[in-house]
Amino acid sequence: MRKIAIVIGMLAFASLAQGADAGSPQTNYMLHCSGCHGVDGSGSPGAGIPTMVNTLGHFLRVSGGRDFLVQVPGTSQSALPNGAVAELLNWILGKFSPTEIPPGSSPYSEQEVARLRNQPLDDVPAFRAEIVGRLKGIGIVIE
Ligand code: HEC
Repeated sequence: MRKIAIVIGMLAFASLAQGADAGSPQTNYMLHCSGCHGVDGSGSPGAGIPTMVNTLGHFLRVSGGRDFLVQVPGTSQSALPNGAVAELLNWILGKFSPTEIPPGSSPYSEQEVARLRNQPLDDVPAFRAEIVGRLKGIGIVIE
């Protein structure tokens, strides 16, 4: 009997753990991001929400850009666990900006997300402006 109780307890824990991370990346995007970023990733540039379409992959080209996509509050402060955030970012990049991803880029991992989530940005617009400036320096113009 006791063994059965332990097994049932473990199953409950497993399903709870899964509950926080139940969705596919697409479902997580719809639930956690699309309200601001739009179903199609086009955001609302006039309201300060940048488009991700054909821009996001470029961030992987310059120093700080790859980190920024995790550190930006929408990503780092989401309710999703690190592994789901990594999968979500990989999905977003492939969905909205596949042709801009530099060749040889590795996908985000759970460990990378965990590390960067512990390094919040002091000044998000200033850091983004720095990265946009670095991109401009290599001939890529992003608003
Ligand atoms: C409440 C609105 C809101 C939600 C929800 C939101 N974001 Fe954002 N997101 C923003 C804004 C505003 C920016 C611009 C940078 C800033 O001011 O934080 C941004 C920027 C970004 C960027 C960088 C794009 C760029 O060009 O600078 C990424 C990547 C991103 N968000 C990912 C996500 C992900 C992933 C989710 C869902 C887990 C999410 N965001 C949810 C508002 C939101």
